[in-house]
Amino acid sequence: MNPIISLKDVTFTYDNANKSALNKINLTVKPQQWVAIVGLNGSGKSTLAKLINGILPADSGTITVAGEKLTEQSLWNIRRKIGIIFQNPDHQFVGATVEDDVAFGLENQNMPRKQMVQRVAWALDQVQMSAFKNKAPQTLSGGQKQRVAIAGVIALQPQIIIMDESTSMLDPNGRRDILKIIRKLQQQLGITILSITHDLSEIVEADQVVILKRGIIEKTATVAEIFADPTRLTAWGLRPPFTQRLQLSLLQAGVLLTKKYQTKQGLADELWQLRSKM
Ligand SMILES: Nc1ncnc2c1ncn2[C@@H]1O[C@H](COP(=O)(O)OP(=O)(O)OP(=O)(O)O)[C@@H](O)[C@H]1O
Ligand SMILES: [Mg+2]
Repeated sequence: MNPIISLKDVTFTYDNANKSALNKINLTVKPQQWVAIVGLNGSGKSTLAKLINGILPADSGTITVAGEKLTEQSLWNIRRKIGIIFQNPDHQFVGATVEDDVAFGLENQNMPRKQMVQRVAWALDQVQMSAFKNKAPQTLSGGQKQRVAIAGVIALQPQIIIMDESTSMLDPNGRRDILKIIRKLQQQLGITILSITHDLSEIVEADQVVILKRGIIEKTATVAEIFADPTRLTAWGLRPPFTQRLQLSLLQAGVLLTKKYQTKQGLADELWQLRSKM
């Protein structure tokens, strides 16, 4: 199968920087895959997203999206295929109400009004924000704003969605909800997902994990490989969830548990039992 995104020897240096933010990046993403991009702060993840979307122009190398080489001419066509959700939703609002905001991108596409109204309602329903449709985006909480920003992107039903730490504002439940929604849409609509994240629970969704280190690809791994090497998680910019961190600390303190727990509740139950034996 032809890749939907392909980068060949892509290099980019910011003006006034003495070092490349990305150096000879080679990467291919197959259609409908979920690719997680991880790495420490400053490793080049957001720069990579901006290059793929043509927000920043590569200094050298080639980027191909859905069979089309990214050039000044093809830029707008390619952008229509990609939806980006950034970390801070405040920078993304353009509409006076939640509904207007989600409709904005569709208006730009000249979608007929009737279809647009339906699409906006659908997108808001997906992120469970229908009840807020007449509110001003500025009055929402961080997590609610992020849901609206996500609705704005999924309303467009792009071929590719890039999430740049888009769930970092959400609490664990909110994050799980959003990932579930994105996963469902990915499968229903055949969307390709690039998710830039420091969050381990987001990695779990990925078919492939790309680890960036100081502007180069250090390693491409499967989720299983990532989890097989927990001592390196921090070096890869990943933060284990609370339950895992606590179990690691308990282990280091010499507290032996009967098994590994994925959920807080299971761990709490065993800790209660241990306590009653003390
Ligand atoms: N506008 C800019 N001007 C100059 N240098 C920049 C600019 N934006 C980023 N950089 C530099 O480019 C490198 C890569 O930055 P980038 O934002 O892509 O990292 P990142 O992996 O997304 O980090 P984080 O996890 O903190 O979001 C860093 O060294 C950073 O300091
Ligand atoms: Mg970033």
